[in-house]
Amino acid sequence: MERVNPADVPKRKLNSGEEIPCVGMGTFGSDRFSPEQVSAAVSGAIRCGYRLFDCAACYGNEDQIGEVFKTAFDEGVAERRELFIMTKVWNDMHDRVTESCEKSIADLQCEYIDMFFIHWPFPNYHAPGCDGDARNPDSRPFSVSEFVDTYQRCEALYKKGLIRNIGISNMTIPKLEAVLPLLKVKPAACEMELHPCFQQQELFDYLVDHDIQPIGFRPIGSPTRPERDMMPEDVADIQLPQMRSIAAAHSIHPAVVALKWAVQRGQIPIPFSVKEAEYVSNLKCTMEDPLTEEEMETIAGLEKNNRLVKGQVFLWEGAKDWHDLWDEDGFIVK
Ligand SMILES: NC(=O)c1ccc[n+]([C@@H]2O[C@H](COP(=O)([O-])OP(=O)(O)OC[C@H]3O[C@@H](n4cnc5c(N)ncnc54)[C@H](OP(=O)(O)O)[C@@H]3O)[C@@H](O)[C@H]2O)c1
Repeated sequence: MERVNPADVPKRKLNSGEEIPCVGMGTFGSDRFSPEQVSAAVSGAIRCGYRLFDCAACYGNEDQIGEVFKTAFDEGVAERRELFIMTKVWNDMHDRVTESCEKSIADLQCEYIDMFFIHWPFPNYHAPGCDGDARNPDSRPFSVSEFVDTYQRCEALYKKGLIRNIGISNMTIPKLEAVLPLLKVKPAACEMELHPCFQQQELFDYLVDHDIQPIGFRPIGSPTRPERDMMPEDVADIQLPQMRSIAAAHSIHPAVVALKWAVQRGQIPIPFSVKEAEYVSNLKCTMEDPLTEEEMETIAGLEKNNRLVKGQVFLWEGAKDWHDLWDEDGFIVK
């Protein structure tokens, strides 16, 4: 296996002063890859030099990944303090944040969490692997006070030292405007969908202006995403002629072009792959042969407002459609 010295992977500095690698590995099996396949990839990834891992309680694979972490620690492949482990509280645990965090720490066998995210800003639950048309009658619109209560539970974990940073995910500017003044510990990062056809420039700029690190999920446009997230109108980022021609110029896969663009733009991409050749190239590409300014501009021009994680399974009764989740008119939709 090809190895990269983790010290050579570029880092970013969080508002907490801590460093974080500029690329990490995603661990969502997309209802297609088993926990064993995902944890085997994590095992390979640590050995090839990855130090940042994006986990979540709802991915259903933290105990298998924890076994892999433990083996890596026992075998001296990496020390705990060298890894940056992220996980997330799922929607049905917003009133039991401590329990969720303690379970993730036990499952991941990692003593503490480097970044603990609120996965979605409301408690609307859907079962893993559910159908795209599934709706839960208990779902409700975003509530500032409910969110702040959940966040304060994270702040308590932060004070106890169980988590080193607090993260938010799937947020919008109107929601951030409403909650940021109410938070004591500033979020260090925001996980959001980011790929060439969905660049969220306004939210990206807002986060950078507020010293909150954008972390980009679905960075390749998730060709292996769950069926429920596939819509006929979706565009495949890595099949666009511009992406293919930049890839050809660098003799790399268009997926790797998307990652180079992400890192050079300033977000932290967290690509997923169970294939060794892919995850090795996804790490290595951050250290060599950058895209030119012109190529960066070409990719900036590929924006198509193509949101892939629409979140329709979280809609509440009375909501119009998935657009209501994203406050597109500049106010929180209730
Ligand atoms: N916070 C949230 O709500 C949220 C939501 C979604 C995702 N996430 C996180 O973001 C991570 C990444 O998103 P994702 O897994 O949906 O999608 P992704 O990383 O955009 O796409 C993954 C797929 O891209 C292909 N790929 C990866 N590297 C490649 C390479 N070098 N060359 C060619 N193809 C490559 C692989 O498919 P092939 O099998 O076709 O090669 C792989 O299955 C997740 O694992 C998860 O950790 C978070």
